This record gives sequence, structure tokens and C-alpha cells, in this order.
Amino acid sequence: MRMPVRFAFGLLNAIRNKADLTGNKRGCDRGVCGACTMIIDGKTAYACSTLAIEVVGKQIRTVDGLADGAKLHPVQQAFCDRDALMCGFCTPGFVMATVALIEKHPKPTAEQVKKGLDGNICRCGTFVRIMEAAMAASGQLATSTRGVNRG
Ligand code: FES
Ligand code: FES
Repeated sequence: MRMPVRFAFGLLNAIRNKADLTGNKRGCDRGVCGACTMIIDGKTAYACSTLAIEVVGKQIRTVDGLADGAKLHPVQQAFCDRDALMCGFCTPGFVMATVALIEKHPKPTAEQVKKGLDGNICRCGTFVRIMEAAMAASGQLATSTRGVNRG
């Protein structure tokens, strides 16, 4: 059976179905939602819209490789601490976009956070908390929300 080229050689399919690294999700599958965001040679990319052959020899980072054993990456920890997710489907993509943002701008401004994450969509509407998580991960907001009245 012939398979469509995108199915056979898409980076997201290769990572999820061949390498069995299923952290990054498939949302729209057409370069719109950002759920599949990975970091390729330091830059964010939509894995659903990237051919695997395009990235041969490049460094590919997925959400699966962020934690150090049981210790979460600071960005992952900030998303947990700031309750920056509901269903969580968009979260791996947002986490990767935030990691790339903070590696480029260790103390980003609110505008830089908005710009850095503007390729990602959260259908549950957790944008405010995602912004807070990005600021907390960069040390510009308290990590924990304990004792904060969130209304
Ligand atoms: S699944 Fe890749 S951008 Fe939506
Ligand atoms: S937490 Fe549900 S889509 Fe973002």
C-alpha cells in the first residue's frame, strides 16, 4: 500500500511512531496550533509540517527529553506550579516554545513572551497562566501559586 509522503516522512510521525517518543502531540496537523512544537538546532518548528529528511543531522529536541530523570525541567515545573494547563494537549508545544524563548531571552519581557508563544494555541484558554509560567520559569515571578487567590 502506498502511503502519503507526509505520513511516511513527517517528523512528528517519525518521532511519535518510530522513535516512540509521544510527548509532543498532534493537534491540527497543518502548522496552525503548535501542539507539535519541537526545537531543531535551537529554533522552534512545527514537527507536523517538517519532513524528517529535512532535519537529518540536526539536533532535535522534544518534550520527552527535557526532564532530568524524575526532576522536571524548570519550565515544566513552572507550568505545573502555576497551573498552566487544563486538558494539557497543547502543553508540550507551549513548554518547548517557552524553553526556546528563555534560552534566547533569559529574562523575557511580557511582549517577548507573547511573541515567543504566538505560534501556539490553547483551546482551553489558559493563556494567562501560561504567561505566568513563562515569567516564573525565568525567575521573574514566584514559582508557586500557593496562597494566591486566583479568583
Ligand atoms: S499539530 Fe503541528 S501545528 Fe498543530
Ligand atoms: S490546556 Fe487544553 S488545549 Fe491547552
